[in-house]
Amino acid sequence: MESLQLQAQDSQGLHRTLSATNLVSLGIGAVIGAGIFVLTGQAAAQYAGPAIAISFVISGLGCLFAGLCYAEFASMIPIAGSAYTYSYATLGEFLAWIIGWDLILEYLFCAPTVAVGWSGHFQGFLKEFGIIIPHSFATAPWEYVNGHLVATGALMNLPASCIVLAITVLLVIGIKESAAFNNLMVVTKLSVLIAVIGFGIWYFTQHPGLATKNWTPFIPKNTGVFGQFGWSGIFKGAAVIFFSYIGFDAVSTSAQEAKNPKRDMPIGILGSLAICTVLFITLSLVLTGMKNYTALKVDAPVVFALQEANAPVALRFVVEIAAMAGLCSVVLVMLMGQPRIFFSMAHDGLLPAVFAKIHPRFKTPYITTILTGAVAAVFAGLLPLALLGELVSIGTLFAFVIVSLSIILLRKRRPDLPRPFRTPWVPLVPILAAVVCLTQMLALPFDTWMRLIIWMLIGVVIYFTYSRKHSHLNTQK
Ligand code: ALA
Repeated sequence: MESLQLQAQDSQGLHRTLSATNLVSLGIGAVIGAGIFVLTGQAAAQYAGPAIAISFVISGLGCLFAGLCYAEFASMIPIAGSAYTYSYATLGEFLAWIIGWDLILEYLFCAPTVAVGWSGHFQGFLKEFGIIIPHSFATAPWEYVNGHLVATGALMNLPASCIVLAITVLLVIGIKESAAFNNLMVVTKLSVLIAVIGFGIWYFTQHPGLATKNWTPFIPKNTGVFGQFGWSGIFKGAAVIFFSYIGFDAVSTSAQEAKNPKRDMPIGILGSLAICTVLFITLSLVLTGMKNYTALKVDAPVVFALQEANAPVALRFVVEIAAMAGLCSVVLVMLMGQPRIFFSMAHDGLLPAVFAKIHPRFKTPYITTILTGAVAAVFAGLLPLALLGELVSIGTLFAFVIVSLSIILLRKRRPDLPRPFRTPWVPLVPILAAVVCLTQMLALPFDTWMRLIIWMLIGVVIYFTYSRKHSHLNTQK
C-alpha cells in the first residue's frame, strides 16, 4: 500500500496538466452521450413511463454512493489504474486482475458502442445535406436481432471506425490537447441540453395542463410481465439507463495527469456526477412531459420530441450537433481511460512492460493508446454492437460493487492511512452502493450475465497462463 502511495507521487512520465475544471469536464465528457440522447426515451416507452425520472434517481443514487467510494480511493491512491489499482491495494493481485479485465468491458467496449451511435447521428446529419454513405460502408456486416446474428450485406461501419482512429491520434498527441477538445465538446452539449430543458419549460407554459396529462399516471400499471411498468419497470429502467451515468469514474484514470489529485479527484468525480444527475432527471421529466411516453420508442427521442413540439428548426439542428459532440467526447474519455489502466497493469507486471511505455515527446502512453484505438476501431467497424451495450453496463456495475466493498475492507485493515477524502457513513454508504448496483445487475438479462461470466473465464485463463508468471509480486519472491 505504501509503495502504491509512493508511486502515486510520481507521475511515471505522464504530464501533470489537468486542473479541477478539466477533471469535472472529463467526467461530463464521458457521461453525457448515447444514454441520455437515445436510451431515455426508449426506456420510458418500454419499461417505466414518466417514472423513468425515478429510475434516474435510483440509478443516480447508486452512482453517488459508488462515486463517494471512488473519491476516497482516488484521493488516497491517485494512480491511473482506477478500480484495478484500488483492488490491487486491498484484495490482492488475482482479484485486481479480475477487475482490470472487467474494466476492459467498461472502457474498451464502451468506446466502439458509442462510436456506432455517433456514426448513426453523423449519417443522419449528412442526409440533411443529401449526402448518403454507400450501404457497404454505412453499417457492420452483421446485426443482432432478437438473439440472432443477421447479415446486413455491408462491409463495415466506416464512419464509426474513422472517428475512433481520429480520436486515437488526438490522444497520442497529448493529454492537454485532448482535454481542450473535450472541453469544447462538453460546453456544446451542456449548453444545448440546458436550451432543450429551457424550451420544454417554456412549452409547458404555452400548453398548460399538457405535462400533467402526459405525466398521469406517473407510474403506469404493471402489465403482468416483470419489468414492464410498475415498480419492477422502474428498476428495469434504472438498469437500462445506468449506461447514461457510465463515465464519471473515468476521471480517476487521469489521476497521474492531475495537478493536485488529492484535492481534485473527488471534485472531478462527484462534481461531474452531480451536474449530470440533475440534468438527466430534469431532461427526462421534460421529455415525457412534452410527448407521451408511449411515443418515445424512437432512435432520437430528444429530436423527435422537439419536432413534435414544433421547436425552431435551429434548435433541432443544434441538438443534432450536440449529440454528435456528446458522443465524440464519450469515445474520447473512454479511449483515454483504457490505456491508462493497461499502463498501471503493465507497471505491476501483469501485462508486458511495453504497455507502460510513455512517448518521449508527447508524454502519453502511446503504445497502449494505439493498441486500444486499433482494437476499438475494428470493433466499431465490424461488430454488431447492440449486443455489447448491456455488457458495458454489467461490467461497470461489477466494478462499482467491488470498489465499494473494498472501502470497508481497507478501513478495517488500514485505518491509519491518510485519507484526503473520506467516504461518509462507512459502512452504510458502501453497502448501499453495492446493494443498488447489484439490484441493477440483477435486472439485466440472463444472456448478459452469461457473456460476463465467459469474459471473466477468459480473463482467468490469461492470468494463470501469462500474468501470474510475470507479475512483479511473484517474480520478486
Ligand atoms: N454515459 C455514456 C453514454 O451515455 C457512456 O454514452
